[in-house]
Amino acid sequence: MRPVFVLVAALLPVVHGALLLGIPSEQLAAGNTSVPSSFSKSAAPVSTFTSSANSSISNAPPTSPAVGMATVPRKRAAIPACLKTVELSCLNLAANCIDSVNAGNVNTLWSIKSCVAAATCYGVGDLITSVECQTGFVVTNSAQAALPSSIYNGIVMGCTSCAITQQNYIDFYYGQLTAVNSANFPSSIDVVKAFWSAITTWAATGSTVPYMNFNDWLHFSSFPVTTTTTTTPVTTFTQITWNPNPAPTSGAVSETFVTSTITVIIAIPTATTSVVVGGISITLAPGGTPINNPLPPGITIPGATTPTWNPNIIPPTSVPSVTFTAPPSFTTIVAVPTASNSPPKNITGPPGDKNSDGDNWWLLVFPGVIDGLLPADIGIPGGVKPTAAPPPDWTGVWTDPDPTSTSTHNSASASSSASSSSSSCPQPTAAYSLSDDDENSDWEDLGSDPDRRRSNIMTNVARAGGRSMAFTDCEINKANGNLVTNPITVDLKAGTYYTIGTKAAGGIGIALNPIVVNDRPVGNGGGTVAQEHVFEIGYIGQFFKSIKNQGVSCAWIVNNVYDQDGWDGRKWALSLLQEIDQVPNMVWVDKAMNQAKSNVVNQNKATAADPPQMANIKKISDFTTTSSVNLIQDIEYFIRNLAAVGTYFGHTAAIFQATALRVQNCLAQITPNTPDVNLPVAFNVWLRTLIQTYPLGCTSRATNSFNYYHNRMTTVANQLNNGVVPQCFPLFPVAINPTTFTWQNLVPPPPNLPTCNIPGTEGILQLGVNPNGAAEKGVDTYRVMGAGHADFYGLGIGTDFMAGSHFVAGSLAQYPSCGNGAVVVDLTGPGTPAGLPDVLFSPQCNGQTGKQTVPFSFVLNGQTLSCTLIVTVAGKNSPVEIICAGSAAVAVTCANFFLSNRYPTGHLLTGPMMFIPS
Ligand SMILES: *[C@@H]1O[C@H](CO)[C@@H](O)[C@H](O)[C@H]1NC(C)=O
Ligand SMILES: *[C@@H]1O[C@H](CO)[C@@H](O)[C@H](O)[C@H]1NC(C)=O
Ligand SMILES: *[C@@H]1O[C@H](CO)[C@@H](O)[C@H](O)[C@H]1NC(C)=O
Repeated sequence: MRPVFVLVAALLPVVHGALLLGIPSEQLAAGNTSVPSSFSKSAAPVSTFTSSANSSISNAPPTSPAVGMATVPRKRAAIPACLKTVELSCLNLAANCIDSVNAGNVNTLWSIKSCVAAATCYGVGDLITSVECQTGFVVTNSAQAALPSSIYNGIVMGCTSCAITQQNYIDFYYGQLTAVNSANFPSSIDVVKAFWSAITTWAATGSTVPYMNFNDWLHFSSFPVTTTTTTTPVTTFTQITWNPNPAPTSGAVSETFVTSTITVIIAIPTATTSVVVGGISITLAPGGTPINNPLPPGITIPGATTPTWNPNIIPPTSVPSVTFTAPPSFTTIVAVPTASNSPPKNITGPPGDKNSDGDNWWLLVFPGVIDGLLPADIGIPGGVKPTAAPPPDWTGVWTDPDPTSTSTHNSASASSSASSSSSSCPQPTAAYSLSDDDENSDWEDLGSDPDRRRSNIMTNVARAGGRSMAFTDCEINKANGNLVTNPITVDLKAGTYYTIGTKAAGGIGIALNPIVVNDRPVGNGGGTVAQEHVFEIGYIGQFFKSIKNQGVSCAWIVNNVYDQDGWDGRKWALSLLQEIDQVPNMVWVDKAMNQAKSNVVNQNKATAADPPQMANIKKISDFTTTSSVNLIQDIEYFIRNLAAVGTYFGHTAAIFQATALRVQNCLAQITPNTPDVNLPVAFNVWLRTLIQTYPLGCTSRATNSFNYYHNRMTTVANQLNNGVVPQCFPLFPVAINPTTFTWQNLVPPPPNLPTCNIPGTEGILQLGVNPNGAAEKGVDTYRVMGAGHADFYGLGIGTDFMAGSHFVAGSLAQYPSCGNGAVVVDLTGPGTPAGLPDVLFSPQCNGQTGKQTVPFSFVLNGQTLSCTLIVTVAGKNSPVEIICAGSAAVAVTCANFFLSNRYPTGHLLTGPMMFIPS
């Protein structure tokens, strides 16, 4: 028999006294890392064991743990809180799926085989909810690309034109479990048959399901659980720039401009040019369409065509069929014509449902385009509704050709007064220009929000250099030159734009719609749309301020977080900043929304006497001068945005929660030098306490600003206008109804960590009791460490979980006596963990806090292990093996096997393992 402790001796430079832990060398040589089957009975959610299937353990000693060593790459793992509770084989598929999703494939989920398999057992909507939770991306099932034929062919065994049979599905399901190295297989084939049965029921195509129906099932069988209270799925919008000016017909050679007194004729321009007509300069695009401004009144272009806006929903592209819906229950699925000469499909809507031409039919033509006008209440799952935006350089008045597409009126009672605004009312002549409340301008103390860093708000040019994070309460600020700064500049391009519509569209709408855009939207004109973090950088400073207020010193915060290197060499503070400053945490919003949100987040302007935008509201001086009218229009637009902030928080709750969870998980990785505060727990409590004030914070501020505005308008009317406010200000007579949201959706689940012996605590281990009654204690000092886990800590030697050594497990599955389910627990250092799963530490605190001498357990993949310890050689200073399994019986049998075969002079310990704090 070869010596047992080769690896361990190399790993633990100082082994004093009785404690020496070893992995049997046969195990190391065999490289056998089969998943212990006893763990499959675990109720724990994801087995990280399954994802570390390739753990070729080398017998060679690892390279020595250099201090400050560079990155220890960690596989990103499914976040347990993002998974729902389901049958375990299904859970493994779902975990593999959500692990596999990244920014590049978030809309091609059905090109990932484990996602297709997971959807069949986990549900399409729930799977997408889990993907969103894991990644922070906004994902819709109807936006997903079609199931690729390569995957379908795999399911139907190459018989492309065949429908999927039950046997095909069973083979596919088990095949995927094998492919993802699942630790768990269904307890019975009936479980899998039941998954299939649910799909055949939905498809209603008999006992088999053809490609088209299976693809439809993937897209429409269920929708993600929305975090908002909306009853209908949120419409997806796409923004199209809209130049309302007339265009010369194609093929025309000249263009004529006519006023009442003169005629100007030019050749159709081939480059951007300008023409002067009656003293007014008009800029023309190549082809002759006037750009940047409306065609001035009094000038016409005979023969040019004024464009009409096509309000139809755009069906999803490259799909075999398009589904049309209408409330309450109209659904029709129409196959897309397959060639350009295929006849169009003529679709008739529900009886009585007419479009603006009075027809209730429309056509679907190749390659999936709608001809004719859809009646207003027809929807297309997965389609996008076009919404108009002014061209980028547009100045002057621009009228939304389809204002209902984004600013739907919120209350029926209000719409009558809104539509009463007369055409003689002054139109806005300036872009939205309300200044920020003074309280919100000190951004460097709060953490720089993405667009305050633009060098010039009117040019949209982001200032070079990353965003930074201050912590003024502990002297980390710009003045001291020690701001934490992201070396990378993160900018949102394609993303979601949350808007209530343009200011120019007017009205009283407060419906906030998500619009998918490819780049910074134009909004109310250049510089009026901001990219912003949903979860703000400033929260980090607010959180540390709160723990400072609880008595934690600045030195502790600075030494353990701001100045401390983390697992991958970045300082922890930079890791926290970078968890926040990333594209999945960013959206586009109108500047007015950004300002309104700042009031809530910064918790200022909170009283009726001092509401948001009070200083600007006070400047309203009359109802007729251009500057005052523009000011009133801006204020109405601001108040409508403020009233929509609740909807904003509701819509972005999943993004907020996912980012907060990343921050919480990052805090859970920190091992401070002393156990002054349990960072992830304190963070969750602080965030929970804060966010529950937001719903009232939103509604009260909107009400206060509206009332302040209403009073100001009334005062001005009394002074100037016999008490009459002109009907041109539609919000004035309307009682606004500010929106709210479910604050719980923003806060990640609280960590369920042991309450005593928190990270930073040091102590020694009592491993059990010898047959002679003497306690067996180790002499090494161990440190409780942050392991980045929501339920357990790490235990090891060194500064933190990655820089030092910590406990890991090696499989004993090759020993029949070990029931194919035992592991040996060992201490290992950086450089070794490749594939060896982490063993975590669970002190049994029983509600006690602080440092406590208590029994503890080791935990593997969320499962508490039963351990039996072997003193390998009788006598003092003898090494100890820790043999563990999911059940005590297996651990004891296995330990006895080693005792009799390998350690004939050793003995077993009894009693619990105890942690004894220093
Ligand atoms: C397993 O590890 C070996 C050695 O590091 C590597 O060559 C191989 O590509 C890995 N296989 C997988 C599936 O990751
Ligand atoms: C479509 O069908 C309707 C009646 O169902 C008919 O009136 C209409 O003319 C048809 N349109 C075309 C283009 O065939
Ligand atoms: C690993 O262990 C399993 C289960 O005991 C066994 O079937 C397999 O042959 C072993 N593989 C190696 C390479 O030893």
